[in-house]
Formats: sequence, structure tokens, C-alpha cells
Amino acid sequence: MSDSDDDLQLCPTTLAVLNEFLKEKEERENQLKCMSESQTLDVSFDENWQLSQFWYDENTTDTLVRGAINSTEADEQIALISCPTLYSKLKKNCGKRQVTLFEYDERFRVFGSDFEPYNYKFPLDVPRNKSGSYDLVIADPPFLSDECLTKTALTIKFLAKKNIVLCTGAIMAELVERLLDVKICNFVPHHQNNLANEFYCYSNFDFDKMLK
Ligand SMILES: C[S@@+](CC[C@H](N)C(=O)[O-])C[C@H]1O[C@@H](n2cnc3c(N)ncnc32)[C@H](O)[C@@H]1O
Repeated sequence: MSDSDDDLQLCPTTLAVLNEFLKEKEERENQLKCMSESQTLDVSFDENWQLSQFWYDENTTDTLVRGAINSTEADEQIALISCPTLYSKLKKNCGKRQVTLFEYDERFRVFGSDFEPYNYKFPLDVPRNKSGSYDLVIADPPFLSDECLTKTALTIKFLAKKNIVLCTGAIMAELVERLLDVKICNFVPHHQNNLANEFYCYSNFDFDKMLK
């Protein structure tokens, strides 16, 4: 058997299922392109586990959004790094605050100029003029590794003016506290699909107080 791609054969049933899936995907992407800004805020995005996507449950989203609003003034700027599910609820409730989503998954490009393409592997490959611009940075790195955390922390420090909130695994606690001078909050984030890893929220200010 040759290992050329041309020789790969799928059975007709598998091929039909694959074609149906690709057709639905294309239709969905075309629908998204035609939507107005307010319509895109109501779109739900499926988790893609290959991108390490584990969405917060509703109570966690509500809590983080409430905390973000209570910890910023009405005209301040908020950066969301790799935590796309916070964007829509925050955007609907944030008044004149500016919200920027730094995210790797191109599906979130539907959020228009609020979307900044971001790959943690290139931590300073973000707009230079955004240095120290964000009054609050909330981040949730994709992987529980020293490399990912260290690089994400670099981006956080570059973008942050003052306040930082980080959600990540409990096993990263020591490095998190060392890199970012943050402490574990009482508030514990939860996910729609329960994760095996214990999760913490960390901040460099009294974030719990902002949740009351
Ligand atoms: C652990 S999830 C956090 C999602 C968060 N819990 C939420 O509900 O919005 C990690 C995020 O990192 C993003 N991601 C995946 N690969 C990435 C990369 N190379 N650089 C930056 N972000 C990445 C995923 O798309 C996902 O949104």
C-alpha cells in the first residue's frame, strides 16, 4: 500500500457524515459573518478540547463579570486573555468600559475590533501601544505547564496597568504566586463539564470583596 494521501479511502457512510459535518460548519460560519455586533453576543461556541477549551459554568461567568465591573471605573479598560466565555456577558453589562479579548481561536473574530489574535507562545506579539493600558486583566491560560504559565504571565504583565485576576489549576499555585505576586481567592471557578484538576482564582487585589 502506498502512503500517498490520494490512496486514503473513507467508506461511503463515514464520508457522508464528514461531508454533512463540514457543510453545517460552513453554514454556521457564513451565518456568523452576516451577524450584527449585538447578535454575535448571543452566539454560543462549542468547546474544542483540542484547544483546551473548558468553559466556565454560568455562576462562574456571572461572578467573574460582576467582579470585573466592580473592580473597574466606568471608563476603564479590561483585557480578557484566553477566557472568551466572559466576553459576551461582560460586553452586555460593562457600559462604556472597553473590553478586548486576546484569544487564539479564530471563531471569536466575530467580536470585531474587540478581538486580538493571541498565541501564548509569542507572549509579546500583542499591540505595542497596549503596554500598561488595561486597568484589569483576567486570564485563563490554556495549559497547566510552567512554559504556558510563564509566557502568559509575561503578556499579563505587559498589558496590565494594575489589577490582575488569573484562573488556573491549583497545581500551578507556587509558580503563579512567584511570577505575578497574586494570592489565592476564596472564590473558586467551576466549569460546565467538571474538570479532574482542582481550579483556583488568584488576584493581586481583594477580588473577593468585589464579588459582594
Ligand atoms: C482553559 S481555556 C479557558 C476558557 C475559560 N474557562 C472560558 O470559559 O472562557 C483556555 C483558552 O485558551 C485558548 N487557547 C488555546 N490555545 C491557545 C494558544 N496557543 N494561545 C493562547 N490561547 C490559547 C483556548 O481557545 C481557550 O479559550
